[in-house]
Amino acid sequence: MDGNGRWAKKRLLPRLAGHRAGADALDRVMHYCRDAGVEYLTVYAFSTENWKRSTEEVSGLMRLLSSYIHDKEKELVANGVRFRVIGRRSDLSGKLQAEIHALEEATAAGTFTLVVALSYGGRDEIIRAAARYKGGGEEEFAKCLDTAGIPDPDLLIRTSGELRISNFLLWQAAYAEFYFTDVLWPDFDREEFDKALSAYSKRERRMGARPGEGK
Ligand code: FPP
Repeated sequence: MDGNGRWAKKRLLPRLAGHRAGADALDRVMHYCRDAGVEYLTVYAFSTENWKRSTEEVSGLMRLLSSYIHDKEKELVANGVRFRVIGRRSDLSGKLQAEIHALEEATAAGTFTLVVALSYGGRDEIIRAAARYKGGGEEEFAKCLDTAGIPDPDLLIRTSGELRISNFLLWQAAYAEFYFTDVLWPDFDREEFDKALSAYSKRERRMGARPGEGK
């Protein structure tokens, strides 16, 4: 969800106002996903690197997450959204961990899954999974990742003109299609979403194979 800071700066607003606009954009994008039949949406809300930002921004983001969880519970349950967090939860405050756990329990029956990456880094996730892994190959390894039970992403969208993966879903994105746009996350609207889906639908997904050849 890149570009919140720049969106705020353009409007002479504090960075946190950009993150608040980013949370509103997330609500909208969830609606677009559901209308399009997408069943899983994963958003990168806070990376293992984001702890290095100013204390003001970090604590503001943590407060924003906490109030999002608090304010949205009824709406998420009513809309059948299953909430799930990936990342190093033990980095978060005990209060936020408990709020996350409660929301995961309350929304467990949802049919649309919103995965929020918090204190998340792909390499960190892989190291933690490796410590749990007892052998058995890729499928067994995937069960040791934070995303166990969640399908790999088909499409990975990065907003605000950055052309990097930045430690996001390193294992899971092995065959994902990438879509980059200059649009800042808070401005990511239905038209932009439709453009991304349309670009995706035109891609030929071979997953390493050649159609019509081999097994
Ligand atoms: C990256 O933009 C965005 C973040 C580090 C935070 C994203 C968090 C939210 C949108 C908060 C709400 C999330 C939930 C799940 C309720 P940036 O700050 O790096 O922007 P910049 O590159 O323009 O400075």
